[in-house]
Amino acid sequence: MTVQRNILCIGAGYVGGPTMAMIAHKCPHCRITVVDVNPDRIAAWNSGELPIYEPGLDQLVAATRGKNLFFSTDIEAGIRENEIIFVSVNTPTKTFGLGAGMAADLQHWEKTARQILEFSRSSKIVIEKSTLPVKTALAMERILNTRANGVHFDVLSNPEFLAEGTAVRDLENPDRVLIGSRETERGQKARETLVEIYGHWIPREKIITSNIWSSELSKLVSNAFLAQRISSINAISALCEKAEADITEVSRAVGMDSRVGAKFLNASIGFGGSCFKKDILNLVYLCRHYGLDEVADYWESVVKINQYQQERFIRNMLGAMFNTLAGKKICLWGFAFKSNTGDTRESPAIFIARRLLEEQAEIIVSDPKALKNARADLAGLAGRIDFVEDPVLAARGCHAIALLTEWDLYRHLDFQAIFATMDKPAFIFDGRNILDHRRCFEIGFNVYPVGKAPLTHF
Ligand code: UDX
Repeated sequence: MTVQRNILCIGAGYVGGPTMAMIAHKCPHCRITVVDVNPDRIAAWNSGELPIYEPGLDQLVAATRGKNLFFSTDIEAGIRENEIIFVSVNTPTKTFGLGAGMAADLQHWEKTARQILEFSRSSKIVIEKSTLPVKTALAMERILNTRANGVHFDVLSNPEFLAEGTAVRDLENPDRVLIGSRETERGQKARETLVEIYGHWIPREKIITSNIWSSELSKLVSNAFLAQRISSINAISALCEKAEADITEVSRAVGMDSRVGAKFLNASIGFGGSCFKKDILNLVYLCRHYGLDEVADYWESVVKINQYQQERFIRNMLGAMFNTLAGKKICLWGFAFKSNTGDTRESPAIFIARRLLEEQAEIIVSDPKALKNARADLAGLAGRIDFVEDPVLAARGCHAIALLTEWDLYRHLDFQAIFATMDKPAFIFDGRNILDHRRCFEIGFNVYPVGKAPLTHF
């Protein structure tokens, strides 16, 4: 028999919102409340315009909101009334004190733990969903189980592996669901409760269990491995440009080795997003903590290559455009850290925009979903910045287009017409290698892909 379950999620962000919408959709017997300290965010979840863009999310929320999915700011009532609590608060990189720029900032997380303790009147299962450095579940347990008032908390780790832009698809059909628990009887029972919830739509063999520390570490390591592939291929892209090899051909040949695999081998301006850099730096911090400096240096180099790739993009632009960008109009196609999301956290576009402004270029930022975030990211920077959603209008009168996000719409534009409106010589810097370079060249553009010889008319 299916038991009615009351579930709370603290944190209505990119992970909490979509994950709870999916559980609500797949488990009609669960009543789910998502709470957040930010009233604007909650108001947006309750409105016709959700605070985040994800393909398929609108429909999912429309089908469940008000039935078994609720968004609220009442954290206290939420904690009191629910027996299962997901913690999905943000854990950004610390900007101050010890570990600044590397360690995770755990203040929201600890505050949440203390709130759970304060408002709970009955025993609960608390599930860590935020990516946290290893052993924080232990700290969570310690905070929660400090009072001997008959209330007991079982802490589980259930890291989220969804990628932005494909969140709904990833949640519906994940490669795996990982649940870490204590091996005690209580721990196993709590774990089974969560396995039962996911079991409503995920095949049992894809739900894997482990101890808490393995689960926490697996999340950091998964992201570190994915990011490492991008930095490896990006490092080789620099060599290809010198050696006149073609990175697409190299990555195709390498990726066809089934032991390597084809995914995450697209050379680019570098990875962005809220996870990769943060998680790798957490891993580096952890390794240093244990005195493993060589291991820390190894993983840190993945982040360094990512920075190098972005700086290299700017240097290539400068070199191609006669070593001066001052007063030139440069259009940025895409500002999100990847396509199908409006998220710009750690987007390489932020760095590139800053650097172009430092070179005194004038920039026109274009993106179908991320202009609001782009405005906030670039607020206060000196220089001329315009925001134009339509990529064709954005490119008008520009000296160059820098393609920074792989939005599909950029592939299908009328490049002949775009070329006609631009200043000459016109340049395209394709930071994602998604355009038809030969065709753009034939139209008259000077084309600079990543990791391949440029196609120029000089
Ligand atoms: C990532 C992980 O994939 C996900 O499992 C984890 O839970 C959170 O972090 P996300 O940050 O949403 O997800 O994006 P992802 O699709 O992994 O892309 C990260 C960055 O790498 C993007 O900037 C993307 O454009 C870039 N990328 C990806 C490349 O440059 N080349 C590639 O081949 C793949």
